[in-house]
Amino acid sequence: MAPDSKSSENTLQAICYKRGSLQLLDQRKLPLETVYLPIQDATDGWNAIRDMVVRGAPAIAIAAALALAVEVANIKDFNGTVGEAASFLEMKLDYLVSSRPTAVNLSDAATKLKEIISKAVSSATVPENVFLTFIEAAEVMLEDDVASNKAIGSYGANFLQQQQKNPMRFSVLTHCNTGSLATAGYGTALGVIRALHAKGVLERAYCTETRPFNQGSRLTAFELVHEKIPATLIADSAAAALMKEGRVSAVIVGADRVASNGDTANKIGTYSLALCAMYHHIPFYVAAPLSSIDLSLSSGQEIIIEERSAKELLNTRGGLGEQVAASGISVWNPAFDVTPANLIAGIITEKGVITKSGDAFDIKDFVKKVGCNSSV
Ligand code: MRU
Repeated sequence: MAPDSKSSENTLQAICYKRGSLQLLDQRKLPLETVYLPIQDATDGWNAIRDMVVRGAPAIAIAAALALAVEVANIKDFNGTVGEAASFLEMKLDYLVSSRPTAVNLSDAATKLKEIISKAVSSATVPENVFLTFIEAAEVMLEDDVASNKAIGSYGANFLQQQQKNPMRFSVLTHCNTGSLATAGYGTALGVIRALHAKGVLERAYCTETRPFNQGSRLTAFELVHEKIPATLIADSAAAALMKEGRVSAVIVGADRVASNGDTANKIGTYSLALCAMYHHIPFYVAAPLSSIDLSLSSGQEIIIEERSAKELLNTRGGLGEQVAASGISVWNPAFDVTPANLIAGIITEKGVITKSGDAFDIKDFVKKVGCNSSV
């Protein structure tokens, strides 16, 4: 049966999908307004991703796949062959991948979907068979993501409890938004926080504001309040002081792309948090699905960092409000930075926690052992 994402648990939902229809929660409007935008096709999906209606590495991959699924579900009579149907899907997937460059989940999803399409071509008798196979595969991505996030949460919470001197009392600092809004549900780093809270061992979650787009103050704070998790918002610049006061047991962040040596691209400001954590002897963890790992890259130097509009920095509300910075100033606005692996204590995945053997991560070996395909 095709999933109806609206009928699942009572959590915030970035993606509302029923076969043939997709609505994305407009995250630019949160927390002031809850507005869902209808997405009819790949072009709507591309714009929604580029304009940050939907954001967060797993969510953009799923939203892209479903936008195309909706487009083909609503094609009445496709005028072409089975091969042309496959080419149509592949071309649209390439287009969707061009919306944002840093998160690997999007290109990873496109690669996996293309493999499924090319297998479908050999057995399809009419183009509609190829479209249906694609739609079903996109729907599986939506369903699998929540289960994957719950596994990340559970592995992460158990691991943290094993590592900590006081396994009954945690205060965790997180950055950006990695929760239900950044995924199909539950979240990655926020999933670990959720799992610690469910176990009754979370004293407090701290979330950074996450300038300039304010994913922390607008989205993570919103989710934490919604879930009734004890939480405090801090300015990005308050993180070092918070750590110095001994108020943080661990830092947990998400990832947009993890290179095979463990270097991790995530929201701008992540690197500063990792440096501060190292200085204060606080463990720093990345929580991400295996689809965020890019084994084709040997290090983080090869990761393309998206630069976004100056407006996000010059104006309030991540560029959506009025201008507050001096006119005429030039702006550098990278959306992500790369945290070197030597600052990372562990990478929490849906298949377990990747730790270092000696000084380095062996992520290729981990992926081989758990038998999961990643973007190679
Ligand atoms: O620019 P954004 O809001 O898409 O950036 C999001 C992040 O950096 C998240 O930490 C990352 O995508 C992981 S989301 C589970």
